[in-house]
Formats: sequence, structure tokens, C-alpha cells
Amino acid sequence: MATSTQHRGSVLPAGASGAELTTLRRAFELARRGPAHGPNPRVGAVLLGRDGATIGEGWHRGAGTPHAEVAALADAAAHGHDTRGATAVVTLEPCDHTGRTGPCSVALLEAGVSRVVASVQDPNPVAAGGADRLRRGGVEVVMGVLEEEGRTVLGPWFHAVRHGRPFVTLKLAVSLDGRVAAADGTSRWITSDVARRHGHELRSQVDAIVVGTGTALADDPELTARTADGALVEHQPLRVVVGLRDLPAGARLHGPGGPLVQLRTHEPADVLEALAGREVRHALVEGGPTLAAAFLRAGLVDEVHAYLAPVLLGAGRLAVGDLGVTTIDEALRLDPVHVQPLGPDVLVVATPRPREA
Ligand SMILES: NC(=O)c1ccc[n+]([C@@H]2O[C@H](COP(=O)([O-])OP(=O)(O)OC[C@H]3O[C@@H](n4cnc5c(N)ncnc54)[C@H](OP(=O)(O)O)[C@@H]3O)[C@@H](O)[C@H]2O)c1
Repeated sequence: MATSTQHRGSVLPAGASGAELTTLRRAFELARRGPAHGPNPRVGAVLLGRDGATIGEGWHRGAGTPHAEVAALADAAAHGHDTRGATAVVTLEPCDHTGRTGPCSVALLEAGVSRVVASVQDPNPVAAGGADRLRRGGVEVVMGVLEEEGRTVLGPWFHAVRHGRPFVTLKLAVSLDGRVAAADGTSRWITSDVARRHGHELRSQVDAIVVGTGTALADDPELTARTADGALVEHQPLRVVVGLRDLPAGARLHGPGGPLVQLRTHEPADVLEALAGREVRHALVEGGPTLAAAFLRAGLVDEVHAYLAPVLLGAGRLAVGDLGVTTIDEALRLDPVHVQPLGPDVLVVATPRPREA
């Protein structure tokens, strides 16, 4: 992380001017226009000409499309701007590898950019090294500017790439007495329309929805992301069922939606390894209680989204199966991140604290 220096009375990250910080905030806005799902990060880039005026803007629109820097260079070219001597302000270190597109470091060098201000260092060992190549090419590079904000914009992607496995969100739709189904196994619906719509938005932002065979057999779910009027949204996450039992041929999971994968294992780590192999960066585990407990016990839940409904069931399955907690000191504690009313329900987003060994 960059150290800080005093600049006109305010604390600025070392090396970045006030105008560059303002520009970087604009680049964060641009980055957020990109899709939250998919194997690639959300990245924004702004080019400043020699006089400090913006001459090009770009963001990454998803795998296979130009990276933000290349999009910004194209924008500058389309408007007849000279990029020689320009400053590129980017939310992520320019990549240095050829994947579906070429290295951004090379594109910036070829465009004659003389300075790069970047927020987050690329955690991807395959793509990193852009800053070094640029420096070797004579470009001044300032890195680590507004890094915390930059990581927030990158979201689950940053965590997934750094840890080499998908970021896992565990979603629960829970009655006030902690249950996810009534005594007969029915669970439609515990939460309100508003909460369920929110859940569909979440689905549209992830790469995979994961359930156990118990849920697949009891609920016959579609596991699709839908709009308020029931239409399928454009991006449909992979549908993943974990467990050994076969799904019936007529299961709704075979209907329209994302590709269906069954993983015949009980090991959450194996599930995540298989999903990482399919370029899944963000997996949404939607239960049931057995699978939820397995992921929690394995320490493989990064965030919990609990939709709490003002309803009491008195009997029926509890949200999470056995965690091996026998006394209150062993409880799995979570830190709340966000609490949001959703119609009659409340969404609690919280992150599990690492358990002491
Ligand atoms: N309200 C909600 O948010 C919500 C969400 C989901 C489900 N539910 C409710 O939950 C109930 C289903 O509960 P459930 O616990 O049976 O569902 P589950 O967790 O989806 O599935 C459990 C099954 O998955 C397999 N499995 C996968 N990993 C496992 C592991 N590590 N250990 C043991 N088994 C593993 C096993 O089946 P195999 O024998 O096939 O391997 C196991 O029987 C339904 O009533 C459903 O309506 C509610």
C-alpha cells in the first residue's frame, strides 16, 4: 500500500495529485458499469492528456471484450486525441498477459503513455507484472492509490483470485425462529416478494448457485435469476447440485436457465475446486441446512446473506445443520456488514469470524 504525504493541507496517497484522485474516483464509477459476474474483474480507466484534461474513458464489459485501458485508448483515438505523454488512471494494475485479449501494459507503452496511476495491484499471478513492464519501458507508475476503495469495487473477484477459489456467499431465507422449512419440508415462501426479488438480483450477480440434493429433491427448484415479472435475466449462473443421489429426469433444474452440473461429493473444498476450474469467482450457496453446515464447518463461507422473515414455524428444519458447537463459547460468531429492511423482512449480511483452533 502507498504511504501518505501532506498535500495542500490534506493527506494524499504518495505520488498521486488531487486531480488524479478525482479522476480515479471517476474510474471507479466506470468500473462499476461492468458486469459483477464472470471470470474477469470490473475495471475502469481514464486517460488524462498532457494538459490534465480527460481525453478517453473506458471500462471492461466482460470476458472477451477489450480491457478498460484498451477501451479508453480507443475512446481517445475515436475523438482524435493524441495519447503520447498522457496519464492513465486505472482501478487495477494493467495486465501483462495475453488471454482472450492482449496485454494492456503493451497497449499503453505503444500509445506513448508516460504515467500510470493505479489503485489495486493485480492479485492474479498469471496477469500481474504490468507495472514492472511499464516501468522498464520508462513509464512512471504509482500504485496502491485509494486501494481499499479499489478492492471494494473489485468485490468477490479480488478475494477469489487471491485465494485461488470462488468467494462463497451463503444465502438463507429464515423464519424468526431460525427455520428454513416447515415440518413437512415445505418452504415456499418464508420471505416476501421484496426479499425474493432481492435474492434474484443477487443470483444475477454470481457465477454459480449451489444446492444439495436434499433441496433439489424437496423443492424441485429452477435456480434461475429472474426479473420482477418472472422473465429470465440475460446472465444465468451455473446451476450446481452437490450430492450422490440422482435427480429425476423431469426435474425443473433441467429446464431453461444456466448449465446444470452435479458434483457427486460431500466435500465443500472439492466443490470449490471444481467450480474454480470453470472460472467461477462467486458462488452462492443456497442450502439446504446440511450443505450450509458443511461449508461453514469447512470454513468456506465468506459472507452470509440471511433474509429474516417475521414468521414463526415452531417446527421444521433449522437454517443450519450441526456445526459441532456444544457450548456457547464454541459458537460461530459473525461480524455484521450490512442490515437492510426489505418490505416486511430484514436482510442481514455478515461475515464469519475465523474460528480459533
Ligand atoms: N429457506 C431456505 O433458505 C431453504 C434453502 C434450501 C433448502 N431449504 C429446505 O431445506 C430442506 C432440505 O434440507 P437438506 O439438508 O436435506 O438439504 P441439502 O443440504 O440441500 O441437501 C442435503 C443432501 O446433500 C448431500 N450432501 C452434500 N454435501 C453433503 C455433506 N457435506 N454432508 C452430507 N450430505 C451432503 C446429501 O445427499 P446425497 O445422499 O445425495 O449425497 C444430503 O442428504 C428442504 O425442506 C428445503 O425446502 C430451505
